[in-house]
Amino acid sequence: MQLPLDHVHEALKTAECLYTEAQLQSAFDKMAAQLDFLKEQDPLFLCVMNGGLITIAELLRRLSFPLQYDYIHATRYQADTRGSQIIWRKEPCSTLVNRVVVVVDDILDGGITLASIVSYCKAQLAKKVYTAVMLDKPSGRLLGGVEKADVVGLTIPDRFVFGCGLDYHGYWRNLREIYALDPKFHSKP
Ligand code: IMP
Ligand code: MG
Repeated sequence: MQLPLDHVHEALKTAECLYTEAQLQSAFDKMAAQLDFLKEQDPLFLCVMNGGLITIAELLRRLSFPLQYDYIHATRYQADTRGSQIIWRKEPCSTLVNRVVVVVDDILDGGITLASIVSYCKAQLAKKVYTAVMLDKPSGRLLGGVEKADVVGLTIPDRFVFGCGLDYHGYWRNLREIYALDPKFHSKP
């Protein structure tokens, strides 16, 4: 859904910048360094679209060992009270059998999405599944969710954030910083 552009601009103007581009770049450097242990393991990186787009791009540009890349697009089935069912918009094309898989997403919040994707990878007989996220919102965890990602860039407080792949109603994924939305924008526009 498109929104009036003055509303979209106002959401950014009133938001609080939590992390600058420089802070994010240095977080991506650290994340990439932590992934170096995979250099002999021929890993398959799986980007969780759409939010993981910037994170995967920043990481891949920093990794110089052999790796393969694919993407998945999954969304949580809202009506399911168990909360762990995901709907696939796009399953990975690559076979996961016996692969070392690194699932890359923008944020670990409730952890349900990542938990579902990790169990999917294991059900597809991946040898090992690691998780890497740009942001961790520890206060958001839900029962049954992933508690901790293997590689984390930066930690954020209990705020709705956007920028660097994360969106506000589909907008502002293109920003180079991370912003926290002003609470007055939490209700539907
Ligand atoms: P969860 O960990 O199952 O709650 O879901 C994580 C997904 O929800 C992420 O991949 C994001 O797409 C989305 N998400 C969670 N928190 C935020 C936020 O603060 N801003 C934008 N998207 C978010
Ligand atoms: Mg997402």
